Amino acid sequence: MFFSRRTWIAPTLALFSLVTLPILSSAQKPKSAAPVVSHPWDDKTLSPDRRADMVVQQMTLEEKLQMVHGIGWGVLREGAPYPREDNGGAGFVPGIPRLGIPKIDLADSAVGVRMSAFDGRYSTLLPSVLALASSWDLDAAHLYGEVIGRELRAQGFDMSIGGGMDLTREPRNGRNFEYAGEDPVLAGNVVGRLAMGVQSQHVMGDIKHYAFNDQETLRTTVNVVMDKRTMRETDLLAFEIAIKMAEPAGVMCSYNKVNGDWACENDYLLNQVLKKDWGFKGWVLSDWEATHSTVKAANAGLDQEMPGEDYFGAKLKEAIDAGQVSMDRLNDMDHRILRSIFAAGVYDYPIQKSVVDPFKGRDDAQHIAEESIVLLKNEGGQLPLSAPKTRKIAIIGGHADVGVLSGGGSAQVDAPGGNVIDPEHPQTVWAKPVYFPSSPMKAIQKLAGGAQVTYASGEDVAAAAALAKGADVALVFATQYMHEDADALSLSLPDNQDALIDAVAAANPHTVVVLETGGPVSMPWVGKVSAVMETWYPGIGGGEAIADLLFGKANPSAKLPITFAKSDADLPEPVIPGSAQRHDKQSAADAEYKEGLAIGYRWYEVSKRQPLFAFGHGLSYTTFKYGGLRVDAAGRTVQFVVTNTGKVDGTEVAQVYVRLPDAAQEPFQRLAGWERVQLAPGESKTLTVKLNPAWISVWDEKADRWQLPAGEYGVEVGGASDAISLKATVRLAQ
Ligand code: BGC
Repeated sequence: MFFSRRTWIAPTLALFSLVTLPILSSAQKPKSAAPVVSHPWDDKTLSPDRRADMVVQQMTLEEKLQMVHGIGWGVLREGAPYPREDNGGAGFVPGIPRLGIPKIDLADSAVGVRMSAFDGRYSTLLPSVLALASSWDLDAAHLYGEVIGRELRAQGFDMSIGGGMDLTREPRNGRNFEYAGEDPVLAGNVVGRLAMGVQSQHVMGDIKHYAFNDQETLRTTVNVVMDKRTMRETDLLAFEIAIKMAEPAGVMCSYNKVNGDWACENDYLLNQVLKKDWGFKGWVLSDWEATHSTVKAANAGLDQEMPGEDYFGAKLKEAIDAGQVSMDRLNDMDHRILRSIFAAGVYDYPIQKSVVDPFKGRDDAQHIAEESIVLLKNEGGQLPLSAPKTRKIAIIGGHADVGVLSGGGSAQVDAPGGNVIDPEHPQTVWAKPVYFPSSPMKAIQKLAGGAQVTYASGEDVAAAAALAKGADVALVFATQYMHEDADALSLSLPDNQDALIDAVAAANPHTVVVLETGGPVSMPWVGKVSAVMETWYPGIGGGEAIADLLFGKANPSAKLPITFAKSDADLPEPVIPGSAQRHDKQSAADAEYKEGLAIGYRWYEVSKRQPLFAFGHGLSYTTFKYGGLRVDAAGRTVQFVVTNTGKVDGTEVAQVYVRLPDAAQEPFQRLAGWERVQLAPGESKTLTVKLNPAWISVWDEKADRWQLPAGEYGVEVGGASDAISLKATVRLAQ
């Protein structure tokens, strides 16, 4: 699919600088005095809506139409000319210089700002969003957004089109690394705080892909079939939490259909739920070429076609002339875009390019990585490694000698100095794994106190096993590269890595597997190795974070935001719908997601399957004890005491689950809240977790509203969904 070229009316540079003049400081003002242009909407004391209304009143029809579509793909599409003012991101909407309205430069920025290499710029690669969700740390989520926001701003972008949050219904989804896992309450909070972090930098934020873009297989044709209750209580609940919390400028509607209508022309999703029920005030922009009509889409709530003007250019004008789309609706589209420009501060704090601070970004990335790497297994206290006792360390596979893996697609960040495993191609190639220069091996050497550290690539399994045999510990780095537009066909590690791990484990009883994966993988070898650490895609500080955790310089605290199944056979869909036809992008399939309400960990409970590692699981180098549970009579607060019963400092993510009364017919746990708590050895703290009724309600389809059913609620507290230490019940009247 290629977007049709359109005429772009370029604002002259002179005009452009004229409008930005009033807000430049005197030191920045050009010497020749230019007339200062001011507008009534410059008044910061007016509300964003009032300011937007004032602008809309002054706009010509052409200007109104110009704002509701943009250009895009930019330098990605070979030969695609793009205007000089376009900053080289995924999308661009020209400004209206005569009214002082800035252009909108949109950049993909799921895990860091994308496409920097084309302009010789630097962007911090953060750990994946799934990693961030594993930290369960909302301050880290805000920091994550801040890094993205400040680097977008420094690079001349004023809008992020990151903010991915499609719940994991399909653990093999190629984009799970861009999303925040399988639980609506955790994902909604993490992505909401992330978007707040972006917007704190006066950059417009976005949340995507709305909604149910839960698999990449046939993503542009698949039809998701789901009842309203399931929609509202799962994926839509995640969006509701994040959107109400962050009030993002944009919500990007997705490629797929939902119950027969394209997501970008779905009246239920856009008008009824997003705009009416949730009161979303920003604008809905289509995923790239996900617009399918003019009249239907405009009236269903789509506000901006991206990119191109197949539907929201001349055809929209015709539809307005013919009375099929009202002028009020066009004004509403423009109002939503403009009020977001004012609300985020893009108008009042115009973007000024500067040099990204790579050191600060790296520190932030490493901090988040250390909080997000999950220790899954640690038999016999294999970890942390003790430098004096461990004299020979064999490192195997995963290019761990030179770097760490990153996720691909539109979330791909360009590596500084180029892909460390492919120096011939300094710029990113679509669907080719990019490794970042953060070498776990070098970081391990620094902490290993002079131990002998050797490396084998793992391609030669026998050579790797031989190297492992003579070592005190064998560290196998296993990777799974994932990217947009494709799912993994199975949960198995690719490229014969299961056999490699088997062989190394057979040669050395002290084998530690360090995973760098987009999402969960199966582990047929899990019983043979002594420790497993899931680092996800750990970002530019990943090598150092891994080494710090391996040697106990940092204590693991992360918990899984997603269930690890033992095998594909245990998944609700052992085979991804449409995967047989995946090479024919025109063919369609229905995705029925038969687990329905029982998404993620709930599926394992209702289908009585034992996961490999449960939702919420994650080990520490210390131990914690829970006690003293109290739930108030109104069921609003849960109080309990957590004690560090081990020998080192540690942080516990204490989780609170709720079981609804039988009448709700939801026979499974629902995550209701959590608290991260740092404790010194022997220290106890009393924690109070608030239960938000909105997060544990049931959607009453007949009445079209939320309700909290009367009856007995179970409250469960513990360090994982399958490690509940405390239980209580509370009876609530309706
Ligand atoms: C992706 C979006 C992305 C857009 C622009 C689409 O293919 O689905 O997530 O923002 O491209 O690059």
